[in-house]
Amino acid sequence: MARPLEGKVVVITGGSSGIGLAIAKCLAQAGASVALAARHEEKLEQARLKIAEIGGKVLAVKTDVCVRQQVKDLIAKTEAELGPVDILVNNAGIGYYTMMRNLKEDEWEKTVDVNCKGVLNGIGAVLSGMIARGKGHIVNMSSDSGRATCPGLAVYAGTKYFVEGMTSSMRKELVGTGIRVTNIQPGDVTTSFNENKMIDQEALDKYFNSELDKYLSPDDIGRAVVYAVSQPDGVAVNEILIEPTDFPLV
Ligand SMILES: NC(=O)c1ccc[n+]([C@@H]2O[C@H](COP(=O)([O-])OP(=O)(O)OC[C@H]3O[C@@H](n4cnc5c(N)ncnc54)[C@H](OP(=O)(O)O)[C@@H]3O)[C@@H](O)[C@H]2O)c1
Repeated sequence: MARPLEGKVVVITGGSSGIGLAIAKCLAQAGASVALAARHEEKLEQARLKIAEIGGKVLAVKTDVCVRQQVKDLIAKTEAELGPVDILVNNAGIGYYTMMRNLKEDEWEKTVDVNCKGVLNGIGAVLSGMIARGKGHIVNMSSDSGRATCPGLAVYAGTKYFVEGMTSSMRKELVGTGIRVTNIQPGDVTTSFNENKMIDQEALDKYFNSELDKYLSPDDIGRAVVYAVSQPDGVAVNEILIEPTDFPLV
């Protein structure tokens, strides 16, 4: 198998399950050393063991992306053990199906904290180093709901629109620094994303996609990330919209 990422160091937030774990697997198979970050240690350790089976170096670092210092510590630990970070995948994210009128305000706040502040904490922890080294790649896990409004997921879609707007502006600022920024915009993917988040029956009844044949697999997203980060210098894959064939939202 081709190993275009041999020698590269990657940090993946939300790397213990679902899309993040699949990205870790695909990047490790492509030759990268991988640091996985998430909050629950047991799941994180299981993920580390799975990636270690592929070979290469893998690190697991308990991290809450909402806590700025923890994200800085994650990057420092990765750099001490694996080397300078070439690629950061800001993947950790949460979402709840809710109707705005049902005022799930605690969940609104949690969603903004993880999906917006968490991404900023990631960028804040790697940007100076990447600028100093004159290279780096930041991959943000957005969503097709960051491209098209989505009833039942209004706050979630809003956070992904934030990621899109912030990233597009930052990308233009970073011209000439050697840093690339890619947003991945998946449609529905079979993960544990919806587990414990079924809090608003009205929204679920009206808008939840229960047709499993209209979902992508996590590996579909992992392969897209490998493609984005394996291009030659000078080629920027700025966004990848990837949806189930029979379920286009955009
Ligand atoms: N599944 C979909 O249909 C879909 C579609 C489009 C985009 N996405 C995006 O894809 C990303 C991954 O979602 P997924 O479907 O793979 O969900 P998932 O299976 O629920 O995985 C979420 C991951 O994020 C971690 N996480 C959650 N909160 C965190 C925090 N505060 N700090 C650090 N890690 C945290 C979780 O581990 P801990 O709980 O242990 O921290 C877990 O590893 C999200 O950004 C999501 O918005 C998903």
